[in-house]
Amino acid sequence: MVVLGIESSCDETAAAVVRDGKVMLSNVIASQITVHERYGGVVPEIASRKHIEAIAPVIAQALEDAAVTLDEIDGIAVTKGPGLVGALLVGLSTAKALAFGRGLPLVGVNHLEGHIAAIFLTQNPPAFPFVALAVSGGHTAIYLVKGFNDFILLGQTRDDAAGEAFDKAANLLGIGYPGGVAIDRLAKKGNPEAFSFPRAMRDSLDFSFSGLKTSLLTRLKGLSAPLVSEELPDYAASYQEAVCDVLTEKTIRAAHTVSAGRIVVCGGVAANSRLREKMTGDAHAAGIEVFIPPPVLCTDNAAMIAVVGTHLLQAGFSDGLDLNAVSRIPLAVAS
Ligand code: KG4
Ligand code: ZN
Repeated sequence: MVVLGIESSCDETAAAVVRDGKVMLSNVIASQITVHERYGGVVPEIASRKHIEAIAPVIAQALEDAAVTLDEIDGIAVTKGPGLVGALLVGLSTAKALAFGRGLPLVGVNHLEGHIAAIFLTQNPPAFPFVALAVSGGHTAIYLVKGFNDFILLGQTRDDAAGEAFDKAANLLGIGYPGGVAIDRLAKKGNPEAFSFPRAMRDSLDFSFSGLKTSLLTRLKGLSAPLVSEELPDYAASYQEAVCDVLTEKTIRAAHTVSAGRIVVCGGVAANSRLREKMTGDAHAAGIEVFIPPPVLCTDNAAMIAVVGTHLLQAGFSDGLDLNAVSRIPLAVAS
């Protein structure tokens, strides 16, 4: 089964062609970073307009890269949410038009489920069950994943997402957008023990990152002289270490709690080099296998949406042309 995936939930317009839910034939991503950069964050209205401009050429490129025509596509998978409604509607309307025009089955996909499914595009994917840390700009949650569409929520953030914590810190430090990437880069030259930042809610599988951001703000406000660029790497490294510490510690504890021997880390923050290194090292020491997609499949893409879509279509699910965008959809209820 060859599925065309379409993703437009935030600031990336993406299309991909995937065969049998595991072979990525193409993966095209048009980023809007340079457009939103000057505002320090994604402006929803601008995002929708940029998706409209990009969506048709991105899909055409995905088909061309995969060396297939629409005649060889068996179904269309599109992100239905969570995300920015105006942005989602661009992908949804395009997917519906293609499905209607070509008489193809259409299926709406949960973006978070897509992030978790990205691991099935890698060479040696894990068997079920596994514990997944889904960590992005909008979400930070730990799930027990027992199968496609079979999740138990083990813990989640009570306030900011980890990606948001990185983005807000980068904003305070004035080092650019998107913040996670800037912090990751600077932290490589810094000392993670230079400053001590709080690790919140240590006894719970839930997370809280808002105090961490406030702690950075308070520290910066208390400086007697303006921050100089030589100090930035130490701030970035110490802050990043605090985020990676709690993400790693809680995910490994969650795996022990449900006796899972495998951990998957996914979502944009899974592209963070320190998180990848720390999770892999600490989990191996605890006898747990770790699976993390390559960075390009951690951040938003449409190949991950096509993977989930393939499984849904194969299981007999499809959506009608009344499929709508949903800004918030839970993946699972708390256990
Ligand atoms: O999954 P994603 O592309 O979009 C959402 O679904 O939110 O995640 C975007 C988030 C942003 O907060 C960005 O700063 C963060 O992922 N991110 C990173 C890195 N690359 C992207 N955070 C830390 N280190 C990175 N290398
Ligand atoms: Zn995402």
